[in-house]
Amino acid sequence: MVVNLSEHLANVSPLAMQRPETCGRRASLETQGPVKTKSVLLIVGGGIAAYKSLELVRLLVRAGIGVRAILTEAGAQFVTPLSLSALSGQPVYQALFDLTDEAEMGHIQLSRSADLVVVAPATADLMAKAAHGLAPDLATTALLATDKTVLMAPAMNVRMWQHPATQRNLATLTADGVRFVGPDEGAMACGEFGPGRMAEPEAILAAILAELEAPAAHRPLAGTRVLVTAGPTHEPIDPVRYIANRSSGKQGYALAAALAGLGAEVTLVSGPTALPAPAGVRRLSVETARQMLDAARATLPVDAAVMVAAVADWRPAAAAPRKVKKGEGAAPPPLTLEENPDILATLARSGPDRPRLVVGFAAETNDVISHAVGKRARKGCDWIVANDVSGDVMGGDANAVSLVTADGVETWPSLPKDEVARRLALRIAEALVGPLSGTAESL
Ligand code: C5P
Repeated sequence: MVVNLSEHLANVSPLAMQRPETCGRRASLETQGPVKTKSVLLIVGGGIAAYKSLELVRLLVRAGIGVRAILTEAGAQFVTPLSLSALSGQPVYQALFDLTDEAEMGHIQLSRSADLVVVAPATADLMAKAAHGLAPDLATTALLATDKTVLMAPAMNVRMWQHPATQRNLATLTADGVRFVGPDEGAMACGEFGPGRMAEPEAILAAILAELEAPAAHRPLAGTRVLVTAGPTHEPIDPVRYIANRSSGKQGYALAAALAGLGAEVTLVSGPTALPAPAGVRRLSVETARQMLDAARATLPVDAAVMVAAVADWRPAAAAPRKVKKGEGAAPPPLTLEENPDILATLARSGPDRPRLVVGFAAETNDVISHAVGKRARKGCDWIVANDVSGDVMGGDANAVSLVTADGVETWPSLPKDEVARRLALRIAEALVGPLSGTAESL
């Protein structure tokens, strides 16, 4: 049976189609059965975002996906078991020792009863316990006992999310095969701003559908690690001003999503963008080129590195510690620049740690191909994806690229950035694991 995910999503929710992580998954996928026969075990943790989980249950049920819910003790402070069971049409499970009755489902059975385990909201505490294999309650026991893929939608205060402990737990869980959707950036219930907001229910639904529809055969990059850089960098002039460029990050984010969709463990080192982290991708947020280089190096070894970021070539030689003031009648202050490290060239020449495949992008406004060919040789990378940015490519949704490799130049037609990402991800998969079985269309 062939399920067209785009059509399915369009039927489910028009909102879902507007989200970058859903647009990256437009393929028709072979499934073992229709999505309608699938079910998820939803673990609702304690956080203000728990109210969004009720909407998620509603969307899942509307999409014909069965939902059994486990509500943690903290989760029950925010939503009631009654509302969850009314929306899911199923009993809600709360305590480990409720499940010892013969008539009830045991906790091991419960943990394996669904096709996918979804944790939304995944609190810092739930992530920490899962990362360390602790199982003090029903939710964490189910996470430890399950033999199914786990998808987490983190939700927490921005500082909790950025805390090294949470980032360590995220890395551990990602390495253990846990998939992630979000968190988003934005204003939070606690009054702070930044990453930590739980992904919107439509985005979580899209990530769930992608997981349910992508059997192992469609994960040719399973077991590989890929680094993607994306977005602009901000180079500070003083605490309030910086040098930047018009990169939106869309192409890099779409590529990270497409590679994760093929099963790669993707680390996205991102400069400042307004985009949510794609499903299943570990995002490290940075501001400057030097921070981007450090973060990129820290992810080594990887099998492939794809540098999509529009890294600022120069930075102010010295960022002023205080805001530079405009003097009455005074001449504008001089701005002395110095060159940033070249992340692509550094990784392409990183000796034994060099990724097997290093891919750069070349945004040019003229003589696109000849510049790209020269850049490939100069930077020591394997491929250059050359694009003409003389139109409205930066920030836009379409991209016309040429792939420059040792074998020559291949020019692709103008395509949506998601489609460029999908094609490039398939080429990367072929370069890493050899010819893919099935047609590119079915992947
Ligand atoms: O030299 P140019 O900026 O045109 O090179 C573009 C390619 O090099 C892109 O892949 C970009 O991500 C990468 N790059 C980099 N570090 C820099 C400058 C560019 O990784 N400092």
